[in-house]
Amino acid sequence: MTAAAPEPKANMGTPVPRYDAAAKVTGRATYAADMPLDNPAYAFLVTSAIAKGRIDRFDLDDARRVRGVIEIVTHENAPKLKESKLFSNGGYAGTTIQPLKSVEIAHDGQIIAVIVAESYEAAREAANRVKVSCTVSAPSATFDSPGATTAAAKGQNAQFKEDPKVGDFAKAFEEAEVKLTAAYDTPAQHHNPMELFTTSCAWMGDNLVIYEGSQYVYGLKNGVAEQLGIDADKVRVVNPYVGGGFGSRGSMTPRTAIIAAIAKRLNRPIKLVPTRDQGFTITTYRAETRHEIRLGASRDGRLVALRHAGFEVSSRPDAYCVGGTKTTTRLYACPNVDSLVSIVRADRNTPGFMRSPPEVPYLFALESALDELAVKLDMDPIELRRINDATNEPIDGKPYTSRSLMACFDEAAKAFGWSQRSPQPKSMSDGDWLIGYGCAATCYPTQMAPCAARVRLQRDGRTRVEIAGHEIGTGAYTIIAQTAAERLGVPLEKVAVFIGDSDLPPAPVAGGSNSTASTCSAVMMVCDQIRQRLLKAVMPSDSLADKAKETVGISPAPSTQAAKSDRPLDIEKAFDALGVGIVEEYGEWKPDGAPMDSFTAMHRGQPRFVGGHQMKDKIAYAFGAEFVEVRINRFTHEIRCPRLVGAFAAGRIMNSRTARSQLMGGLIWGMSSALLEATEIDERYARYVNDNLADYLVPVNADVPGVEVIMLSEQDDHINPAGAKGLGELGNVGTNAAICNAIYHATGQRIRRLPVRLENIEV
Ligand code: MOS
Repeated sequence: MTAAAPEPKANMGTPVPRYDAAAKVTGRATYAADMPLDNPAYAFLVTSAIAKGRIDRFDLDDARRVRGVIEIVTHENAPKLKESKLFSNGGYAGTTIQPLKSVEIAHDGQIIAVIVAESYEAAREAANRVKVSCTVSAPSATFDSPGATTAAAKGQNAQFKEDPKVGDFAKAFEEAEVKLTAAYDTPAQHHNPMELFTTSCAWMGDNLVIYEGSQYVYGLKNGVAEQLGIDADKVRVVNPYVGGGFGSRGSMTPRTAIIAAIAKRLNRPIKLVPTRDQGFTITTYRAETRHEIRLGASRDGRLVALRHAGFEVSSRPDAYCVGGTKTTTRLYACPNVDSLVSIVRADRNTPGFMRSPPEVPYLFALESALDELAVKLDMDPIELRRINDATNEPIDGKPYTSRSLMACFDEAAKAFGWSQRSPQPKSMSDGDWLIGYGCAATCYPTQMAPCAARVRLQRDGRTRVEIAGHEIGTGAYTIIAQTAAERLGVPLEKVAVFIGDSDLPPAPVAGGSNSTASTCSAVMMVCDQIRQRLLKAVMPSDSLADKAKETVGISPAPSTQAAKSDRPLDIEKAFDALGVGIVEEYGEWKPDGAPMDSFTAMHRGQPRFVGGHQMKDKIAYAFGAEFVEVRINRFTHEIRCPRLVGAFAAGRIMNSRTARSQLMGGLIWGMSSALLEATEIDERYARYVNDNLADYLVPVNADVPGVEVIMLSEQDDHINPAGAKGLGELGNVGTNAAICNAIYHATGQRIRRLPVRLENIEV
């Protein structure tokens, strides 16, 4: 075992290498824009240079003169698209701002024309020659901009149902022995996955194939069909590999349906490869947020009052928000809680999911505030969390299905060497470098959604698993193969997995860290259907009922244990008894508590999520603790982060290699979100300034010399058959607070606004 492939502990799967590793590193993996098309035309987008106003006139003469230009589509001649449903949990459209619909400009970088040409170069050249005259209005860019409007999220966003509260916050805060009031800010950020936001659309008669990196092939298929006004069965979305998602590909963006409609009109396949900077405005992003936290505690550190008010920027027409108070009001025991989420409308593109959407900004505020409270109480910040550790969440009083928060703190503290920390700020240094240690909690809701799978087994053990899941870099191929191999008792190398194609059985959006739990639970169930058929063939009928009970259906125990308890099944004997060459089963799995319409909704590309605080009688979250060391140069104020240590517990770990990789990537992104990443907004024009990978800072290896991931054994029998909590988003929550807490320890300066750059350090 190596650092990259940690020895599995109890309830952890083996660190088999990625199924797709060789294809990816050798360039054999085909991404959407690599798919060969028959005689394609190439599209290039023209995007708005103003954020608010109207188009008065296009002058297209110069553009049309470029050799190879086939068509220029503007609002004047665009195919008409139907409205699509908004915000169905990662399905369908992420914004109501649709392209080429009218003369109105709703945000900078909005798609205002599409050039189609015989080559990419010709399309781009023509796009650069498009002249557009606009009537410009003054846009509202962000918080505090003239014209930006603020209103409670509840009532305007269908997903945001309640501002959690309990007890009497005002009275308890008033009477608290120790009080803290503090405000925190997080910036706008963009995901920037490596794969650009490409789309290729090819029609065969009335049937459309879309090659597009997507985290939700069923959502995209149904959403595009709805916009085109055609039957969803006529649309197929294909993407065997996706070059990073992070939330940016969860919803349908405005580009896809219009490209499909133009391809239909021209009767030619079209390939669109937008530029990196266009990706900043034609998809979604993490909006900037503001927070006010109030904490009241008794002298011994017990929380008596907690209030979290959050403000989030959204676009003028769409009330998107992440509403992280659902988590921050439930993380610690506290009898009096109040919260309020508000949405600030500005002239911007609509924001959307970005890795751990609610928790990254909201836990920055809460976990920073707890550190500040620990300082006021003169208490170790880990002890403050221990005193307020909860077995039941305080809002509805429901028990956590399992909660290893303090075990994670203890493991991470030990590995990090927290006991060597001298608590006084500015008390540790090494030559010119001030040293700071900081820590914070992370958590992420355990979520599941209905999912189908088809499994085919041959007499020689060869197995084919089909599921419209998504390989966004997480290891989905690998863990689905492991699950099937284990459940059927066949060697892993005999299992072939097919995902990333909407012609396969429906899976939910690869978002909200639900994929592993949902897809593996479905695969387990369908493998059990196969086992049942085979068992029936070889078992005498009187003992069948008992045996079936033991082996069939959803076992509450995690898969390895269930599989091991089964008597081995002689597959060849069973096939001979059945007299067939192939056994194939299809099945649809849904989590406990999923609504009645779950399966029909699943086929329509609308996931019905179950999990987090919305489960009946219980609440399910994964937890972790993150520790960081920062070093700040006394003279230059350069900030380095030599060590990141995280300990995590997330139920069953399917593969200790891919899990570690997810958590490590999370820690690195968490650091990046604290020290590097911000989308700078020119407030005069409501435009993004650093919309490229040279100016938008992301970490390189030298920025993260030490990352240590510790995975704790945890078994949770109350969540889903796979026993997995999901950890794709767990790693990067809380890191930003841990860094600011460490900066305080190094310098005595509390920084409440991200990102922290050397010019913000005042020591
Ligand atoms: Mo994640 S932001 O739910 O893809």
